[in-house]
Amino acid sequence: MDLYENIMKRKSTRRFLMEPLSADAMDRVRKEADGAPKLFENLPVEFLIVEDGEKLYGRMSGIIGTYGKVKAPHYIIVAAGKKPGFRQAAGYSLEHLVLAINNLGIATCITAGGLAAEDLEGLAELKEDMLLVAAIAFGPPEVPEELYAAQRYHKRKPLPDLVLMGLVKRKYKDIFDAARLAPSYMNTQPWRFVIEDERIHLFRARMGFIKNALLKSNNKIDIGIALAHMVIAIRHKGLRFSLKSEPIEYQEAEYVVTIELKGHSVRKERSS
Ligand SMILES: Cc1cc2nc3c(=O)[nH]c(=O)nc-3n(C[C@H](O)[C@H](O)[C@H](O)COP(=O)(O)O)c2cc1C
Repeated sequence: MDLYENIMKRKSTRRFLMEPLSADAMDRVRKEADGAPKLFENLPVEFLIVEDGEKLYGRMSGIIGTYGKVKAPHYIIVAAGKKPGFRQAAGYSLEHLVLAINNLGIATCITAGGLAAEDLEGLAELKEDMLLVAAIAFGPPEVPEELYAAQRYHKRKPLPDLVLMGLVKRKYKDIFDAARLAPSYMNTQPWRFVIEDERIHLFRARMGFIKNALLKSNNKIDIGIALAHMVIAIRHKGLRFSLKSEPIEYQEAEYVVTIELKGHSVRKERSS
């Protein structure tokens, strides 16, 4: 199973077995964290593994009820450099990691907002120039069958609701479906698309005032995650592409980036 297939299988797990992973499994998680791709060369994204999940959990606060507070034996703290686009960059890298460690049979749940930098004291070293963006709760699932999504598990908006303008060519539908299945903060699915021939312009939906206050900037992380799913799908199809900035104004959504598709590469690329 490559990362592309896992887009269809991945789901959030909120009930973990509170038992540590084996040293071998933890090594593999570290290896995946070290190898996770970056969105921008000059924007660092770091993963700090907290093995003592119980201790960190005790310092977390819930956002709405217990949202933001998922109890797990281990966590990965996701940190990014203080530069524009840091949340998108963090989302892009963290989703590659989530899919990769899910592939190892390890359950995950992304969380955001329940932790502050001070909460990491004695558990992980956050560098001064890095910002805490999110955390990934991970470990063995309490119920093994719940590790992967059953058919029709994902509750997602239909594709027509996400396309602001343009037509989805059949040959590119998988790319949009991959984006649709992305996990998002409170499942808000903020990704929107404008399609012009071989160019897909990715947008972030503008929410109302109250929703915006609630979501803070977490839906910027979601956009990075959706972009990761699209890039994984594009590579899986053996297509070449480039990312560009071609800002377009839309009332209902904020422009993020343009993906220009360039036909098949000679050799089908690996999906990760
Ligand atoms: C940036 C981000 C933050 C999230 N924060 C939380 C959280 O704090 N608590 C939680 O239970 N789930 C959290 N989630 C998981 C989402 O609720 C979940 O992805 C969404 O409901 C879709 O479900 P699925 O991941 O099972 O497909 C978060 C997801 C993302 C992308």
